[in-house]
Amino acid sequence: MAQVDIVNLKDNADPARRLRLPIRDDSGRHVGDLQCIDRSILDEPGLIDDLTTWRNQSMPFFLTQFSASKERTRRWLESISLPAHDRILFVICDPGGNRLGNFGVCNIRPGSAEFDNVIRGRASDIRNLMFHCGMTMLEWTFAGLGAETAELHVFSHNEKAIGLYKRLGFSAAESLPLRRIEEEDMVKYSVVDRPEANAGFDYLRMEFPIERFRQAHSAALLTG
Ligand SMILES: CC(C)(COP(=O)(O)OP(=O)(O)OC[C@H]1O[C@@H](n2cnc3c(N)ncnc32)[C@H](O)[C@@H]1OP(=O)(O)O)[C@@H](O)C(=O)NCCC(=O)NCCS
Repeated sequence: MAQVDIVNLKDNADPARRLRLPIRDDSGRHVGDLQCIDRSILDEPGLIDDLTTWRNQSMPFFLTQFSASKERTRRWLESISLPAHDRILFVICDPGGNRLGNFGVCNIRPGSAEFDNVIRGRASDIRNLMFHCGMTMLEWTFAGLGAETAELHVFSHNEKAIGLYKRLGFSAAESLPLRRIEEEDMVKYSVVDRPEANAGFDYLRMEFPIERFRQAHSAALLTG
């Protein structure tokens, strides 16, 4: 069961009260924060531009592929992302507040939650940034959201992402067949029965149970 009120977190309009999850490197040094995309951050200059650019540059790695625009991103944030009870999106920032990417959790339900919308947006000199973000998000998924299992879905040919998820501790649980469907202004991939598949790659479901996380990182949940 979620131990935090997701909608309330995103409804926050005071920048000082924004949820910030500290990102730490292997030696415990603070290298940045995952800042919750709440109402207080929406008008921060450049935020919507960055999210739009990053989505466009990473489009081939997602189920729904379209041409992102600032208007569409804002509409999606305001009408879908912020009001949703089961999803939350964070922007990855260095200690100076520079935005480096985004990282979300969706399908938050009793017992589990799913990594979502993981994008490395721009370079920085923070080594292994996405790995450290992933660790922060795992700790929050287990200790904050109360999930027993962290899950995610990834295209089976997305080697960079699968490499990151395996380094974090996820393992493949299921390989789901995909069908590519072209619509007027977008391409959509849907999970189908094997004979209907035409994508040329699968949708890999990966999971990471809390017991395995505890065994690997016993200190993390105690301090999380
Ligand atoms: C999947 C992903 C988050 C993994 O990121 P990663 O762990 O940094 O691994 P990569 O192999 O991509 O990057 C290796 C190095 O290249 C650099 N790099 C990666 N993406 C970059 C970008 N957009 N701009 C500049 N440098 C980048 C980084 O310096 C990184 O090294 P570091 O971690 O020491 O800083 C990233 O490849 C990405 O954003 N892919 C597109 C979106 C995607 O596929 N998301 C997952 C969907 S399930």
